[in-house]
Amino acid sequence: MRVPDGLPTEIDLTRPSAARVYDYFLGGAHNFEIDRQLAEQIAAMTPNLAATMRAGREFLRRAVRVLLDAGIDQFLDIGSGIPTVGNVHEVAQRVNPQARIVYVDIDPVAVSHSRELLAGNDLTAVLHADLRDAERIIAEARATGLIDFDRPVGILLAGVVHFVPAADRPGELLGTLRAAAAPGSFLVISHSTFEDQPQEMLDAQRLSARTDTEITLRSRAEITGFFGDWTLLAPGVVHMPRWRPDAPGDVDDHPERFGAFGGVATHARSAG
Ligand SMILES: C[S@@+](CC[C@H](N)C(=O)[O-])C[C@H]1O[C@@H](n2cnc3c(N)ncnc32)[C@H](O)[C@@H]1O
Repeated sequence: MRVPDGLPTEIDLTRPSAARVYDYFLGGAHNFEIDRQLAEQIAAMTPNLAATMRAGREFLRRAVRVLLDAGIDQFLDIGSGIPTVGNVHEVAQRVNPQARIVYVDIDPVAVSHSRELLAGNDLTAVLHADLRDAERIIAEARATGLIDFDRPVGILLAGVVHFVPAADRPGELLGTLRAAAAPGSFLVISHSTFEDQPQEMLDAQRLSARTDTEITLRSRAEITGFFGDWTLLAPGVVHMPRWRPDAPGDVDDHPERFGAFGGVATHARSAG
């Protein structure tokens, strides 16, 4: 791949990165040989995984549309990854050209590519930050001038909370993000699970320990807990393809094979 201008020098190209492995699975060009090797190894173990990642993008796209319909015009997308076709700003700004999006990722390559791709789009910004420092993300997102936390915001955590181990207290981080959001805000989460998974999927998950971002699989109950006291939209926390499919026929006969749950909740206005 072409190394973009201004690529940070701290990138360790001897270790695969989750963002670049993900990019490879989605058919992107922003990955290195080390990433492709790991992706191929994972793919050989779990033929479903590439489909899982695409199902994750589809879930995110449908969720963003629902938020747009509810009038959300500002989005904080944490763990946004390498911009690929159908990214949040494309979905959102097609519906509302004034929609503002702040992307956040821990991966310097993802950040660098995102900045390159979004140059000239004044209604977007890209932060290089860690979900585990939620306070900093809120402060920096506010400082961009694009997110007004006194108004409803869409907080997107698609395929990222499973990179936060229990030791880093993901429940507290989610609490910090929810507390910053005004009534009328929405929270979108998709998260890998061990529930109903075949052994090879669980083995493949262990390979993620080779990246800097090991995955922690969680139960549906744990994932539901990340929404706190916000009100879950129907149909609740479900296998991703089951969350408001565009057409009933889009739902796979075995949606559990995608290995992740998705859900959307809102901070009810009456809850203050
Ligand atoms: C599986 S990708 C998901 C990309 C995108 N949200 C989507 O759903 O298509 C996960 C992304 O989370 C990022 N990530 C992992 N741990 C993170 C952390 N602690 N803080 C911020 N981003 C993180 C990775 O670099 C990667 O780009």
